Order: sequence, then structure tokens, then C-alpha cells
Amino acid sequence: MKIAVAKGDGIGPEIMDAVLNIFKANQVPLEYVIVDMGKWVFDKGFSNGMTPESQQVIEELGILFKGPMETPKGKGVKSINVTARKTWNTYANKRVFQSLHGVDTVFSKAGIPIDITIVRENIEDTYGGIEHMPTHDVALSRRFITRPGSLQVIRYAFEMAKKNGARRVTCGHKANIMKLTDGLFLECFQEVAKEYPELKSDDVIVDDLAMKLVVRPEEFDVVVLTNLQGDIISDLCAGLVGGLGFAPSANIGDHISIFEAVHGTAPDIAGKNIANPTALLLSGIAMLRHLGYMQNAAVIENALLYTLEQGVHTGDFGDKSIPGKNTTEFAQAIINNFGKIPEHGAKPVIPNAHVTPTLFKMDQNQMMVSDDSKDEQEYIVGVDMFIESSEQPEIIAKKCKRHGGVKFNLINISNRGTQVWPTGSVYTNLVNQYNARFESIDGSPLVQQDIIGLYVSLSGNFKIGSFELLNVMNGKKAYSLAQGQ
Ligand code: NAI
Repeated sequence: MKIAVAKGDGIGPEIMDAVLNIFKANQVPLEYVIVDMGKWVFDKGFSNGMTPESQQVIEELGILFKGPMETPKGKGVKSINVTARKTWNTYANKRVFQSLHGVDTVFSKAGIPIDITIVRENIEDTYGGIEHMPTHDVALSRRFITRPGSLQVIRYAFEMAKKNGARRVTCGHKANIMKLTDGLFLECFQEVAKEYPELKSDDVIVDDLAMKLVVRPEEFDVVVLTNLQGDIISDLCAGLVGGLGFAPSANIGDHISIFEAVHGTAPDIAGKNIANPTALLLSGIAMLRHLGYMQNAAVIENALLYTLEQGVHTGDFGDKSIPGKNTTEFAQAIINNFGKIPEHGAKPVIPNAHVTPTLFKMDQNQMMVSDDSKDEQEYIVGVDMFIESSEQPEIIAKKCKRHGGVKFNLINISNRGTQVWPTGSVYTNLVNQYNARFESIDGSPLVQQDIIGLYVSLSGNFKIGSFELLNVMNGKKAYSLAQGQ
């Protein structure tokens, strides 16, 4: 089988060569097609960090094994790592955090074993990077949480949990505050959980989750989260097992999957052959299992665990009284230990399963629509107008009311999400962007032309940065109330 390999920047080529040498020594039946991605590709003028040929090869082969890559700063280009995950819809980011013997942490010293899998949604949330500055003082980010996107990643988490015999699937969220966005994610979780009655499922508010993961990590098994919260909680879990040097990552999609280490290019140690290849090796092992090379994966992982148990280490971890190995020597030590079984956490050596990834040629983009959306009764009942002003709420209200006409009532005015009119507190600090909420006078449905009419009228008094329709879906308000409304 052929896979695409991008060695990456900084320590990328050193650790990738070390891992590929381990694979070759284990006779992993893979052929590597090296593709051009990363900093030097940006520097050559390819604004998405990869050449069109590389994109074509990756789309044809379906698997990308990649080293860390640097995104040039200050050039306005977007991260190649995020672009790759989003372009190819690798919607689930799976990171496995396990205690490794030989890697001392407060938990290993206390005899508390850790085995947590974080599944992070990988495409949506604030990672759309859709940001605007409607006024000089205000920056806004759009947070996308979608039903099909959430169902896709949550279903992956449950399927993976079932396949691996997991005990519990937990949803981390902040639905108590972000009632519509995180609320939708939680609703999808509860919906999918019903399809897996054999698995224990529960949900925990993300701040409480952060505390519980530190205090009682052994109680968690599979945790599924939205993108940003998942990003933060993953790094917290990396800390529990000894740091980013031991954190592998698999970006799973239906067509293309990307395997990489969580850490970056480590420019401070690049070119010295001293980097720790463990995280990339663990990612590579996950890739081998994904492709059905179970036996190769188990032999290599057992050799790695055995090597760590022997106290062999690179300079960034381990017993400082034992001299550290360089990257090449560390990889060779693992190769020398093929066939050895670690005392702790030995992986069962089962025959290769020869899974072939589903590669289907796509000639157009796929539209994801959730099944129940077609039956939805939906109509517009109002609009939030985001206007720029440095005046006091009373004055703004007076001006806004003049534009309501026969169709709209000014319901309230809020600033940074807190209501400041008709009631509020003089102690609420203001910025120069307000949200003036208008609703239909008699609750009857509005049409887009009504909204545009209001926009045009209101623009005589204010600069309107943007507006959002207030929709009612299946009888329920599909918008949040302002704090204090
Ligand atoms: P980093 O992870 O590269 O380095 C943080 C610290 O950890 C450094 O002291 C480094 O020496 C050490 N370190 C990281 N990996 C190591 C390894 N395998 N062995 C030994 N020590 C290791 O994070 P930083 O410095 O924030 O980012 C550097 C560059 O990497 C940036 O350009 C960033 O954009 C990029 N990056 C790329 C990622 C990817 O390709 N997925 C992920 C994170 C950062």
C-alpha cells in the first residue's frame, strides 16, 4: 500500500526518518510517496503551504503521515496543519493519552494509570477563523457548531469506543452558557448515545471536566468535545502523561486521514538529532492499526514500551543520571528490542487485518444535511442589528424606535451580550458596538425585504456592521436572549 509522507519542518525530517527506519526494520508493507508541504512551500509562493501535485497525491492515496510544519508568521497565510484538516474534512481528531512506564509523572509515581482518548471535533467552532472588526474597538469571531458536523464526530467517538471495548463515553461542553452552540453539540451527543445503550454515556461541563481530569483521571475513558475545548483539554491530558513529546494524534475523515504528532517543529533543537520521536512513532502506530497492520503495530509498540521501561530516553525526559540517546540511537534501541514484551501494558500481537481504506473518487463537494431538517417549520420574527455608536443606550433607543415603522418593535439593546435598554445598570461598561434587537410588532412572520427596509432606514443614523435574522424553528426561538433580558 502507498501512503503520502510529508516530513515537515524543524525537527520533522529527523523524527520522520527515525520512524520510517523503524517501520522499514519491521518490514511494514508500506511504500512512501514524499509530498511537498510546509514552510519552504509557503516561501515558494504556494499560499496554502502545499503544491497542487502534493494535494493530488494525498487525495489519491487517502493517507497522509506528516511531521510538524511551520506556518510563516506575519504573512497573512493560514496554518497548513489546520488547512489540511479542514480541506479534507478530517472531522475527528483522536488523541490517545496513556501512562508509559519509564516516563515519570506525578500520576505514575502515585500508581494511578491513565488511559484517556480525547475525540475533538476538528473542523468547526472558532477554528473557521471567520473574524471581523466591526469597529476599531471590537473584534468578533463566528463560532460554527453544526448538527451534521457534530453528529459525524460524536458517532465516530461512539463507534471507536464500541470497537475498543471502552467503558464510558463522556461529552465535555459549556451548554450552560452557550445554550445554542454547545447546546446543539450536547443534544447531538444525547441523540447518538441512545443508539449505543451498551456504552455508559454522560456529560460534564468543560471547566469541571478540566478539574476532574486532574483529580481523578483514571475515571475517564473516551471524551468527545467541540474543537477549541477539545484542543485545550487534549493538551491538559498530554500533561498528565508526561508532555507533548508523548502525544500522538490521528485526524480521521471518511476519505482522507492524517497522522501526526501533537507537538510542533521545535526550532530550538532542530538539526541536532536530539528530538524525541516517540509522539510521531505513536501516531505512526495508530496509522498502522488504522490500515489493519495490527501485528506490525503491536511488535513496534511493545518494543517502544520495553525500551522506555529499560530507562532508555532522549534528552527531554527520563532519568537524568542515565545519559540520553540521540534520535537515531533511540530509534535503533527500539529496533533492537523487536520481539521483546514489556512488563507493563503489553499489546496483544494479533495478525494483520489488511484493511484497505475506502478510497472513492469525488467529482463534487458533498453536502451534509441532517435528516430532520426537511420537516422543519421555519420563519423570521425579527433581526439583531449590530450598530456602531458611542452614545448612551437611551439616545440609541430613541433613534432606533423612529425606524421601526409599522412592522418592527425595538425589543432591547445590548452591549457585549448584556442588556442595557430598556432596563440595565449604569455600572455595565460599554464598547462602541451595540446590538439593537427588533421583532415583528404582532409576532407575524417577516420576509427578508422587511429586514432590508429596516437596514436601509437605520443606516441613516448608524453604521451597521452586520445583522442576524431571528428565526423560529419548529416553534422554538433559534436565538439566544441577552444577559438580563
Ligand atoms: P513546539 O512543540 O515545537 O515546542 C515546544 C517545546 O517543546 C520546545 O522547547 C521544543 O524543543 C520541545 N519539543 C517539542 N517537540 C519535541 C520533541 N519531539 N522532542 C523534544 N523536545 C520537543 O511548539 P512551539 O515552539 O510553540 O511551535 C514551533 C512551531 O511549530 C511553530 O511554527 C508552530 O506553528 C508549529 N507547530 C506545528 C504543529 C503541527 O505541525 N501540527 C503543532 C504545533 C506547533
